[in-house]
Amino acid sequence: MNAQLIQFAYLASAVLLIVGMRNLGSPKTAPRGNLIAAAGLLVAVVATLLVQGVVSYGTILAGIVVGSAIGVVLATRIQMTAMPQMVALLNGFGGGASALVASAELLSYVRVGEEPTGIVPLAIVLGVLIGGLTFTGSLVAFAKLQELVSGAAVVYPGQQFVNGLLALITLGLGAAMVMNPLGLDPYFGMVALALLLGVLLVIPIGGADMPVVISLLNSYSGLAACATGFVLGNAGLVISGSLVGASGIILTKIMCDAMNRSLGNVLFGAFGAVDQTVSAGASGGEQRTAKGYTPEDAAVIFSNARSCIIVPGYGMAVAQAQHAVRELSDLLESKDISVKFAIHPVAGRMPGHMNVLLAEADVPYENLVEMDQINSEFPETDVALVIGANDVVNPDARTDKGSPIYGMPILDVDRAQHVFVIKRSMNPGFAGVQNPLFFNDNTMMIFGDAKGVALKLVEAVRDLS
Ligand code: TAP
Repeated sequence: MNAQLIQFAYLASAVLLIVGMRNLGSPKTAPRGNLIAAAGLLVAVVATLLVQGVVSYGTILAGIVVGSAIGVVLATRIQMTAMPQMVALLNGFGGGASALVASAELLSYVRVGEEPTGIVPLAIVLGVLIGGLTFTGSLVAFAKLQELVSGAAVVYPGQQFVNGLLALITLGLGAAMVMNPLGLDPYFGMVALALLLGVLLVIPIGGADMPVVISLLNSYSGLAACATGFVLGNAGLVISGSLVGASGIILTKIMCDAMNRSLGNVLFGAFGAVDQTVSAGASGGEQRTAKGYTPEDAAVIFSNARSCIIVPGYGMAVAQAQHAVRELSDLLESKDISVKFAIHPVAGRMPGHMNVLLAEADVPYENLVEMDQINSEFPETDVALVIGANDVVNPDARTDKGSPIYGMPILDVDRAQHVFVIKRSMNPGFAGVQNPLFFNDNTMMIFGDAKGVALKLVEAVRDLS
């Protein structure tokens, strides 16, 4: 097929991908964005298949059938809370595929005894190195999140020195390959070390930090694809790889900022290695008791309320309480109580976790309000209803310099007139620290599973009227 037409198809595909990603920026337009981006990828795949002499169509068809079958089964069975590990696997396979393609190209140069020229040797090294590291690193991230291995950070003395030394040797082997692209010894050494580094760099990271790591590995998988695009001279792969690389790193930064932690702290701070038992924090020195209430008690307060801000967190996702919460919000609105949902950027365990769940329950998008917009509204709000959230509403983040979450922007629920907190116990959340909010005079703890309590609240509010 005409080479110019193929390049034009890649350009069209890139435009569709960018427009698709733009649409992913809002929950309302996200489904359309997904479709547009998928169409962009389809254009790129079809254009690539039309390039003569790539591989036999039979092999490609077999790959499409097997891959699609596995993809359909995984996508339909996956639980929303298991999405991070699914993405980890996809990143890993993406990185592995890039490393394999770059290796296959290298071997075909070796077979004909012709040295690759220009940027190609460097691109082969980067494709293999980043792709290999992404493959094993993503598998470790998957294993941690799937609880196939312990999620705790694995640390040992001299770890960063060992990792640094191995990284230097790997880069040295890569440089040797660039200078002598047909010498296979450095290639095999580099592959082995890249695979090992992927494991060693991810094991010191605590399981709960995995979403950030997965986003970073996602960026790496894009960079590996981009490098492989240069190896193949495939503009489509270069463009889509760079888009994934750039968006992955932006998302990583957003997540780090929202936790007020640097990327270095996430990667090397061994956050999961800290004692996960409840840390006393500034507020924990004195003995204080949290007050437990029933849904019926809460309903009485609702009967006098005019406004409510619902703050969903990880516990709502675990309990799959979003539909019950939607029912409650509809009921409150039918009683002339204004209801808004406050969305913290890192509530839950993956980017957009709460938006996805609430969209699934058909909560209107205009009721979802970002942290920066809603924080000023808490002092004028009658009820802040916290459902399975903990760290993202911990006031110690504002005041306790010794707290691991000090400086993390939070939702100021403690400033509302009344605060209801639904959770099962006094256990801490992801950061492993106690939350002084639970002991405040205006806080009512309603202990229980988020879904069960939300349904009981619906009944209690209904019974009152
Ligand atoms: P967390 O602080 O993790 O707290 C969740 C709370 O939900 C727990 O205290 C738990 O208490 C409760 N819970 C669990 N299962 C429940 C159930 N079935 N019913 C009712 N409650 C239940 O959650 P958060 O406030 O959403 O904060 C998210 C944390 O994850 C932040 O520290 C954030 O930095 C971190 N993080 C987020 C991301 C992204 S991108 N979202 C990425 C990396 C890290 P009980 O056990 O007492 O019920």
